[in-house]
Amino acid sequence: MTERISKELSRKILLNPGPATTSPAVKRAQLVEDICPREAEFGNLLARVREKCTAVVHGRPDYETVLLGASGTGAVEACLTSCVDRERGAVLIIENGAYGERMTAICQSSGVPCERIAFDWGAPVDPEAIASHLPARSERISALAFIHHETTVGILNPLDALTELGKRYGLDVIVDAMSSYAGLPIDLRAAPVDYLISSSNKCVQGMAGLGIVVANRQALERSKAYRITNYYFNLYKNYCSQKMDRQFLFTPPVQVLYALEAALDEFFAETGEARFERYATLYRILLEGMTKLGFKTLVEPEHHAMLLTAFIEPDHPRYDFDAMHDFFFARGITIYPGKCPRHDTFRIANIGDLTVDDMALFLRLMGEYLTSHGIRPLYSH
Ligand SMILES: Cc1ncc(COP(=O)(O)O)c(C=O)c1O
Repeated sequence: MTERISKELSRKILLNPGPATTSPAVKRAQLVEDICPREAEFGNLLARVREKCTAVVHGRPDYETVLLGASGTGAVEACLTSCVDRERGAVLIIENGAYGERMTAICQSSGVPCERIAFDWGAPVDPEAIASHLPARSERISALAFIHHETTVGILNPLDALTELGKRYGLDVIVDAMSSYAGLPIDLRAAPVDYLISSSNKCVQGMAGLGIVVANRQALERSKAYRITNYYFNLYKNYCSQKMDRQFLFTPPVQVLYALEAALDEFFAETGEARFERYATLYRILLEGMTKLGFKTLVEPEHHAMLLTAFIEPDHPRYDFDAMHDFFFARGITIYPGKCPRHDTFRIANIGDLTVDDMALFLRLMGEYLTSHGIRPLYSH
């Protein structure tokens, strides 16, 4: 059932929302000779990877990628604590899930002034509603921050409309595109976000360990003058070190950077269009198969990002998420619990180095699991 990558490693199918399944080439790219990251050779690798990260979202020539040795949350924290002009005003955060709320928590814990507009978890964000709030608030707001793909529930927030709104009011726009970067078409020429944030281990299909910020150069330069209370996460200083000295400010996860370059090369070889289409195909197979098995989704399909689906858990007495997880895990497939206070859900992502056969296998096993455990019908109403 699980194909072998080497004598020691068998291939696993990760249907959790990252770290995602990686290819054998990406795994192998980590096996490099020991190298000090202050060496020119590593500096050249850093310069190439930064360029390639920028190119994924069509950011050349106005954008610069800054890499941070951190998980995705570290990169979000770096932007919120480095790139909000506190003298001019607060950051307005749009929430409709856990990751939007996390942005607020980061600001509150680090003294960054913030205001929030909260929608129900899983409810679509309405740009008009935000537009109606802005005139009254714009005097005391300097930045707008939101999540592109709210991975809590799999909903897609309107990147273009929200960015346009932020720009209309002269705000710096900070977007957490953690689980959509390299998984959905994002074009910074059309959506001039100031700071676009992701990580190395989701749709870009690299290893965990690097936060990625694709930043508008002018915005970065402006941020130099901001009152900043962080140290490790000072985005401007990290940028200067990487741009001018071709070095990380602090010790980077060396091997993860080699793997990220291999993953970026795979992205460009596959092409963005083909990657987005592969993910969309996997999503369609998933949704159709799960619907046939009787599952209901939390979010209406028209709002799905098509990268992850939150399914309502069956209320059948014999259903148990942990038991179902263990059934799949024993067969080489990882599924993920939900994250939604008002509904019991579990989540299936369709990102990573996955094939149509992987999704077909998942669906076949799900059918077998439900039948062998007598879990029918799935819902009592
Ligand atoms: C939208 C979003 N933001 C932030 C994060 C946090 O990333 P990390 O767990 O790498 O810190 C995630 C993780 O899934 C995410 O999906």
